Amino acid sequence: MFGKILGFWRREESGDQHGAEAKRLLKKLDRSRLPKHIAIIMDGNGRWAQRRGFPRAYGHRAGVESLRDIVKACSELQIPILTVYAFSTENWKRPQEEVDILMDLLVEYLNKEIDELCRSGVRINPIGRLGDLPRQAQDALKMATDCSRNNKGLILNLALNYGGRTEIVDAVRSIAADVEKGLLRPGEIDDKVISERLYTAGQPDPDLLIRPAGDFRISNFLLWQLAYTEFWLTPVMWPDFRRVHLLRAIDDFQRRERRFGGLIKK
Ligand code: IPE
Ligand code: IPE
Ligand code: MG
Repeated sequence: MFGKILGFWRREESGDQHGAEAKRLLKKLDRSRLPKHIAIIMDGNGRWAQRRGFPRAYGHRAGVESLRDIVKACSELQIPILTVYAFSTENWKRPQEEVDILMDLLVEYLNKEIDELCRSGVRINPIGRLGDLPRQAQDALKMATDCSRNNKGLILNLALNYGGRTEIVDAVRSIAADVEKGLLRPGEIDDKVISERLYTAGQPDPDLLIRPAGDFRISNFLLWQLAYTEFWLTPVMWPDFRRVHLLRAIDDFQRRERRFGGLIKK
């Protein structure tokens, strides 16, 4: 019990320390080598809440604050694309009550944030099998997409009812339909043709993938696009994740040597 209390107090460093570190990292970053596309698996909400003796929903609500902070930070850093994993094709397996809370939070987030997002030039781009989401969620997404369509800042890909395998299935179906119609020959199918049929068509693959909450897996996220992405994993739970963690990830990313299967001339 005592350890638990101490653990609670010790959780993460203080905001002041974060502020100082963020400032230092911000100064150090090479602006010409920022990632063009960052992907985040927003994980750990449930455990974060349960460790504090709260219901999982409390963690999901806290996670929205992290999203707000990270979207703002990416926008300010002029990162072109941020993709966040918000609900997977497998997350329907959760109790209906939790699914409902997640969908309600999505609607609330979009309704509350749309003005601020638009002021910052953010373009909302939902990706996934959106037609299977509840009506209210689809309506809110349509509103946010329509309102932000002409914005020129950060593209925010919201992965909802998203599965990497489902995305590939959808791409294969669309290619097969074109082959059947005689619009495409099998021999013409290459990496580029497949990339252009994915939900992320026209976007560069992520340079950096961030997974909070300590697990070391992809969980069906961007299977095709992550082929040469740099991974940055942290035990920090998503509700505790703030811009200082994003800056740590980018700082680390800038020290990586990306070879893409080739060799670097020394
Ligand atoms: C991420 O947090 C949110 C979603 C998957 C929708 P989790 O709910 O997975 O939290 P943990 O991993 O159980 O702690
Ligand atoms: C991945 O997290 C999906 C989202 C963050 C939306 P999960 O919590 O669903 O992944 P697993 O079950 O730990 O692999
Ligand atoms: Mg999880």
